[in-house]
Amino acid sequence: MSTAFTPADITHYLPPDFLAKSLRRDVLAGLQSTPKTLPPKWFYDERGSGLFEQITELPEYYPTRAEREALELHAAEIAAAGPAETLMELGSGSSRKTPLLLDALAEAGPLRRYVAVDVSDSALISAREGLAGLYPELDLQAVAADFEHQLHLLPHEGRRMVAFLGGTIGNFEPDARIAFLRELRSFLGPGEGTFLVGTDLVKSPSVLVPAYDDAQGVTADFNRNVLRVLNAELGADFDVDAFEHVAVWNERKEWIEMRLRATRAMHVRLPAVGLEIDFAPGEDLRTEISAKFRPEGFGEELGEAGFAVVGQWTDAAGRFALTLAEPR
Ligand code: SAH
Ligand code: AVI
Repeated sequence: MSTAFTPADITHYLPPDFLAKSLRRDVLAGLQSTPKTLPPKWFYDERGSGLFEQITELPEYYPTRAEREALELHAAEIAAAGPAETLMELGSGSSRKTPLLLDALAEAGPLRRYVAVDVSDSALISAREGLAGLYPELDLQAVAADFEHQLHLLPHEGRRMVAFLGGTIGNFEPDARIAFLRELRSFLGPGEGTFLVGTDLVKSPSVLVPAYDDAQGVTADFNRNVLRVLNAELGADFDVDAFEHVAVWNERKEWIEMRLRATRAMHVRLPAVGLEIDFAPGEDLRTEISAKFRPEGFGEELGEAGFAVVGQWTDAAGRFALTLAEPR
């Protein structure tokens, strides 16, 4: 998310009052609902983005490695099916897997620019550092924007491939996911480009749950970070260590839920939003869903949003899928 430090080489579409307005609105709505919830985009201040990077290296957290493998195996075919002048990546994070796509797209056609879009300045800075010097011929752009609400503001130049990697699409609530896909479909008209999206696939909870509840406690730290963000940005007085990290597989919805469970009764003040809330002992605050998909079902969902599936690819073990779609 945008912080006081605003490097000149990041284009900011996030309004100056983004934290003030969006965070407050989300907190007011989420903490007054039953059960209490918070949207996952607020994990990603500098510390949260760093913790996510650590998660991607954990032995239990397979999605990053599985998606990387799927890209290593299939990027050439994907790029041949969706050649582009512009690669625009939503929620790009540190862009560590992006070179696999950039190399394949450069091989397949007239790639001119890469536009990294993320809500986190620190992630964009780390992406620029990682890519620096690798692509002297490419126009590298970093855009701080909210992909849920600001797609219409993003650059429209050239035939595009819009990439949404990491399985981040699974972090939307189902209604918000379909709204996002429809919005993206209006951003991307017929003949204007393709959409490449990474989805983690349904598998045994014996694999899924440890991926979200690792032995070293990094995911727990990432989860609790959202409370630190509320303390820092809203002057809240959450006792962060009094919340236990919980990861649950919801069999019916086919998603992992991350929650923070109050270990005792608590009264929390959030003066910047004029709110005081109570937690009962054992009460959960839901901080993230991470939906897992079935390739066919996801293809149908894309169809409902006005896309046609061009191809689907996975890693060798079939853990994670890449779907390339184009506007119908
Ligand atoms: N794509 C990368 C990073 C995934 S982590 C990978 O595959 O490893 C999710 C990223 O999405 C984070 O960098 C976070 O800052 C960003 N993000 C989350 N919600 C966002 C939103 N609403 N708008 C823009 N970026 C968002
Ligand atoms: C960014 N997103 C796809 C991650 C996920 O797996 O849902 C965020 C995450 N949450 C816990 N660990 C990683």
